[in-house]
Amino acid sequence: MLPQSLSESLGKLGRIAVLTGAGISADSGLGTFRGKDGIWNKMRPEELASMEGFLANPQLVWEWYTYRRSLLAAAEPNPGHKALAEWQGIHPDFTLITQNVDGLHQLAGSKNVLELHGSIRVNRCLNCGSETENEPQVFKDHVPYCSCGGRLRPGVVWFGEMLSEATLTSAFEAAQTCDLFLTIGTSAAVYPAASLPEIASAHGAVTVEVNIEETAFTRLADFHFAASASVAVPMLLDAWLVHHPLSILRHEK
Ligand code: APR
Repeated sequence: MLPQSLSESLGKLGRIAVLTGAGISADSGLGTFRGKDGIWNKMRPEELASMEGFLANPQLVWEWYTYRRSLLAAAEPNPGHKALAEWQGIHPDFTLITQNVDGLHQLAGSKNVLELHGSIRVNRCLNCGSETENEPQVFKDHVPYCSCGGRLRPGVVWFGEMLSEATLTSAFEAAQTCDLFLTIGTSAAVYPAASLPEIASAHGAVTVEVNIEETAFTRLADFHFAASASVAVPMLLDAWLVHHPLSILRHEK
């Protein structure tokens, strides 16, 4: 059961913005970066997720991304991803911003996803800048190359790199103008993504955090759900639907 005050807040139809992090994909079997079994507890981000690390050892970095892509091949969107896709389908004034590079939101049916940190499914050429999801055809020392002869890198944002200005501008605009901001499965440790719920809160939005643990944002959040995203997000959607006549559009499962 949701707190009455949250249920009333959900009753206000308005603009919804959502920020997700690795935690929403945890129930799809993908690892998170921080916390007790975090990826960064076992590996050094500077070596595997930075341009310096890539230039120093492109083969190691490609081995790591190829391994992560193999995990993705077995991963399916979970009820948390699916509920967000359904919510957007019913209420178009809904902006989904993610730090994740796994593409599971899109696989669940979410549209116009703002991928702040890029996509692991994309290869980008260091020479001509072309981007593709197709399997590379040319390899030298186990490192893929573009047909132009340039070296390929994963299409993700590495530590120390700038985010896409257009994507970030859209994300900031959504945080500044929304009535309800959901922050789901993120440690709120990495900026500028972590500033989005703070901006939403400062602009008067109702802020709801879904995380199995407390985070740096918890003390600011209006509501904190200490629950798994795959359980809590469908519950939030159900509570929102109770208040909205749009629920007649929801197809019974
Ligand atoms: N449901 C909800 N939250 C969960 C779940 C779950 N099932 N499992 C884990 N979490 C929470 C953890 O408690 C943690 O707060 O998800 C959060 C994951 O935090 P991080 O591992 O730091 O991932 P994220 O916040 O997405 O990291 C941000 O850091 O390394 C960079 O670019 C990388 O995009 C990433 C960014």
